[in-house]
Amino acid sequence: MTNVVWHRNLDSKYRQEKTGNKGMVIWFTGLSASGKSTIASLVEKNLIDSGKTAYLLDGDNVRHGLCSDLAFSERDRVENIRRLAEVAALFEDSGVIAIVSAITPMEKMRKLARSKAKHFVLVYVKADLDTCIERDPKGLYEKALKGEIKGYTGIDSPFEQPEQYEILLDTDKYDVLTCANKVTEYIQGVL
Ligand code: ADX
Repeated sequence: MTNVVWHRNLDSKYRQEKTGNKGMVIWFTGLSASGKSTIASLVEKNLIDSGKTAYLLDGDNVRHGLCSDLAFSERDRVENIRRLAEVAALFEDSGVIAIVSAITPMEKMRKLARSKAKHFVLVYVKADLDTCIERDPKGLYEKALKGEIKGYTGIDSPFEQPEQYEILLDTDKYDVLTCANKVTEYIQGVL
């Protein structure tokens, strides 16, 4: 950025000492209908109930506001993730536990998100594509299989398996409450 000089903020350690709030970024990646958003909102509730400051940034929701100008080309998805990662990093700096739920289909997007945060936890929500197609809560897989939606992740747009993650949740095997508790315990262990 030219002609703009970074203005130093209040030191984040000072902020943390005074408020007692420690921020971090918990990022959920996985196919649509893998269970990301359901588990992420349960984790948010668990943390709030235990007196922590947490806030969920959900891919579906931010696409109604912050990212409403973006579609699903690779370029737009990268921009969607870049914005989410920047916002999540600001939340982290302010002492909030930012929970992000977004497909984040490519490894380079996950690396970008990781690079913006100080403390980043990648949660890979894994479910077989067949399971996701069967669940299809929004009916979008059905439309994608009929060719009514183009470039749908898992159908005619790729989802790269994450190479590096802190937590793996297999939602073919475990229910959402068990998965949410696993993530909550992990976060409480590192706070
Ligand atoms: S990401 O690829 O940029 O990370 P994001 O998580 O924000 O995606 O949005 C995914 C949501 O948008 C899905 O849960 C689904 O409801 C909806 N959606 C609409 N079109 C597509 C598409 N072509 N591919 C994937 N999801 C889509």
